[in-house]
Amino acid sequence: MLTVAVLISGTGSNLRALLEAASEPGYPARVVAVGADRPADGLQHAADFGIPTFTVPFRAYGSREEWGAELAAQLRAWKPDLVVLSGLMRLLPAAVVAEFAPNIINTHPAYLPEFPGAHGVRDALAAGVEHTGASVIVVDEGVDSGPVLAQERVPVLPGDTEASLHDRIKPVERRLLIDVVRRIATGELNLRTPASS
Ligand code: GRF
Repeated sequence: MLTVAVLISGTGSNLRALLEAASEPGYPARVVAVGADRPADGLQHAADFGIPTFTVPFRAYGSREEWGAELAAQLRAWKPDLVVLSGLMRLLPAAVVAEFAPNIINTHPAYLPEFPGAHGVRDALAAGVEHTGASVIVVDEGVDSGPVLAQERVPVLPGDTEASLHDRIKPVERRLLIDVVRRIATGELNLRTPASS
């Protein structure tokens, strides 16, 4: 049974989808803890499923590195096999990535390497593209620059707003994330050699 720790910053709708999948009999992974860099609304989903949460408020620390060191300490305590960033709106310090890599993945609401960064949906809309997408990647020291584990195109429709486009992307993200975590848990997907998986 793969143990998973999830980090969020927002509403946690993707986290909830993973929690629901993990509560299905036969799903080969379970979420052992959920952390956030702020008092995120999404922590309530973990509470609903009786899963421990922790908050490491970015603002309470003098530097990204100090914040990251505490975050890593909280994560380490759960000894997760896999760390999932699901709407964490913070760049992890290199030391944190190095400690957990390659067992740390991220969901992103664009077809990477298109539109990396904190505003992938807004950027795709502003670019006027006809389709964008959703991606699940291995986290590396860069910004959304790690190996792609799964991705799928999502159409941009006339009249789309950032919210309507993001709402169309998220269900795809959730499906990809749930499937990637399952494939990691079964060994079908090897994070050390993702390209050949
Ligand atoms: C997701 O689209 C995630 O990829 C992006 O922010 C969104 C978080 O949504 N980084 P939620 O908090 O899971 O609802």
